[in-house]
Amino acid sequence: MATAASTVGLRPLGDREFRRICALMRERAGIELGEGKRPLCQTRLIRRLRALGLPDYAAYVRLLDDPDSPEHDELINALTTNVTAFFREDHHFQMLANDILPAIAQRGHRVRLWSAGCSTGEEPWSLAMVVREALGDADGVDIKILATDIDTQVLTHARAGIYGDDQVEPLSRARLQRFFSRGTGAHAGQWRIADELRSLVTFNRLNLFDPWPMRGSFDVISCRNVIIYFDVANKTKLVRGFHDKLVPGGHLLLGHSESLPLGANGFTGCGRTTYRKTS
Ligand SMILES: C[S@@+](CC[C@H](N)C(=O)[O-])C[C@H]1O[C@@H](n2cnc3c(N)ncnc32)[C@H](O)[C@@H]1O
Repeated sequence: MATAASTVGLRPLGDREFRRICALMRERAGIELGEGKRPLCQTRLIRRLRALGLPDYAAYVRLLDDPDSPEHDELINALTTNVTAFFREDHHFQMLANDILPAIAQRGHRVRLWSAGCSTGEEPWSLAMVVREALGDADGVDIKILATDIDTQVLTHARAGIYGDDQVEPLSRARLQRFFSRGTGAHAGQWRIADELRSLVTFNRLNLFDPWPMRGSFDVISCRNVIIYFDVANKTKLVRGFHDKLVPGGHLLLGHSESLPLGANGFTGCGRTTYRKTS
């Protein structure tokens, strides 16, 4: 078995292996890795080689020849980009608080939000905070926030809902006081999401390119900074799926550098990277 030290002189990730990894990421996650991602791919996969005691990338890629190998999930976990933050791209949260949520609450007693590509949870927990603030204790309002991601590792973090000082930095003191408690034991010094938010959010693993098991429709779908990794055909397919899953008048939120693919019908732009289902 190779040790960590024996990977020091490892040969760089070769063309053949890199091509195979790109193909697997495309097939299994819809993620396009360009040539520019080769160094990142190499650095992140070294950790997998070490964990598995493998001598080189060729041996790693051979493992992936078995379509049922659990390493396929680890490969996806290693190569997804999970950058996120509480109240990232705050304009969406302001719009939710001022316009979208009050209008939904006026229409009925059911509020359904979906954070598609939720990473380590900052986005769905921020949605939960805004819902609590905008709708009060919301007695009688049935609120559910679904949070999904393909990456099992980030989902574990998201579900735990425990964050360090750096991560809670974007939050106001008022939000920190209301929606977090101080961690205890192994989590001393950290911040724990309060139960009043936990009851609103459900986390599930979902590859956006697999069939969606959810039966109901959503008032808001937030899929921010996710479709940027997909090719046009996959973006188009996904946006069509989101359209089907939104209630009439529902909103789709995309990330700051994303927009609807050309030819995406049935949406009208209504603010920065915000789209309303209009037909
Ligand atoms: C950059 S993070 C965005 C997090 C959050 N939405 C935000 O804007 O702060 C992108 C997330 O999309 C997830 N992702 C990538 N491909 C996916 C797929 N095919 N299905 C589901 N999630 C995917 C990644 O695992 C990652 O956590």
